[in-house]
Amino acid sequence: QNAIYNAGLSGILPEYPVDFRTLEQRAERALSPSLLNYIQGGCGDEHTQQSNAGAFHHWGMVPRMMVNSKSRDLSVELFGITFNSPIFMAPIGTNGETSQDKLGDIAAAKASALTGVPFCASTLSNSPMEEVAEAAGDCPGFFQLYTPKHDGLAESLISRAENVGYKALVITLDTWVTGWRPRDLNTSNFPQLRGKVLQNYFSDPVFRSLLDRPPEEDPAAAIGMWAATFGKVLTWDDIRWFRERTKLPLVLKGICHHDDARKAADLGVDAIYCSNHGGRQANGGIAAIDMLPDVVKGAGSTPVLFDSGVRSGSDVVKALALGATAVGIGRPYTYGLAIGGAAGAAHVLNSILAEADLLMAVNGYPTIEAVKAAGAQRI
Ligand code: FNR
Repeated sequence: QNAIYNAGLSGILPEYPVDFRTLEQRAERALSPSLLNYIQGGCGDEHTQQSNAGAFHHWGMVPRMMVNSKSRDLSVELFGITFNSPIFMAPIGTNGETSQDKLGDIAAAKASALTGVPFCASTLSNSPMEEVAEAAGDCPGFFQLYTPKHDGLAESLISRAENVGYKALVITLDTWVTGWRPRDLNTSNFPQLRGKVLQNYFSDPVFRSLLDRPPEEDPAAAIGMWAATFGKVLTWDDIRWFRERTKLPLVLKGICHHDDARKAADLGVDAIYCSNHGGRQANGGIAAIDMLPDVVKGAGSTPVLFDSGVRSGSDVVKALALGATAVGIGRPYTYGLAIGGAAGAAHVLNSILAEADLLMAVNGYPTIEAVKAAGAQRI
């Protein structure tokens, strides 16, 4: 992991930025204004989104000395699999439009193959999930479901995810309707409504059976059908429905309240995913990292995934210290795709991992268990 740093010390500087601020500046130049607004923007005046990243600064870790942290083990266990690193790529529905190499989600999956960082593929992908899964090679991945209102279509997406070998079904709870996003309204930029990110949907046999004519012949009608079937409102009673339809581990994305975490754990879900969707869905909320400790308490022994506002290796280590089992990277890898395709995203992930690894070395945390034992304090 320290290859990037060691090469830098000997004068071989990396091609892409190693910090979020410079990365975002590069992405701002690489993306069209409307796409940049869609990715960079959030809900309302974006206060919650900004708090997500800012709140990491009021958590701090205390180093331990006289510990042999010469070699570090960053691996974690999740769903019975050992992953080499504690980070994963969060589902992002615009990869299809973003990637500089025009490979979209395929590029994200390739970054996963290059780094061993699992990719959670979004329902809203510009490539059929079968192709995305294949591009990830040996690195296991997850599938994120926006549950359609049409049960047969939901079943089809779930069984496809199972058939291609995804290791978990991540059910997003907070986006059955899109939040109030002024930047999108001001720039008429909803990629879904232009069919830009719907190829995974359009390739689905059940979805196609709902149409009079295939999406290739009548894209407007296909987009209309997508809009009509998108966004089932889920309640706790639906957990059984999912259980009866898949053997995949179930992950609930968007849980932020202690009682919701406890309820999910009581119902036997396999992991809880604490996230406020990067501040894109609701404004006026609490920074996600500040909600994590309470969610972890509510979850008991159920693993907790986390995202929203993670921008660096030290953010990753803090989230682990506060009880996350694995930490999702969102906007940073997408900016990596924007500036350098699969290689750019892989570089961003490797930089974040290298920083986390070096921090663990310096702080005397040779393992993730040591990180958790050290914890983080509110400053
Ligand atoms: C998202 N996110 C998201 N989540 C999801 O469950 N399905 C999706 O298709 C998308 N699409 C999406 C598009 C874009 C452009 C962004 C920025 C985010 C939310 C994502 O999984 C994650 O929760 C956030 O990105 C975390 O916030 P940060 O760290 O990126 O600010």
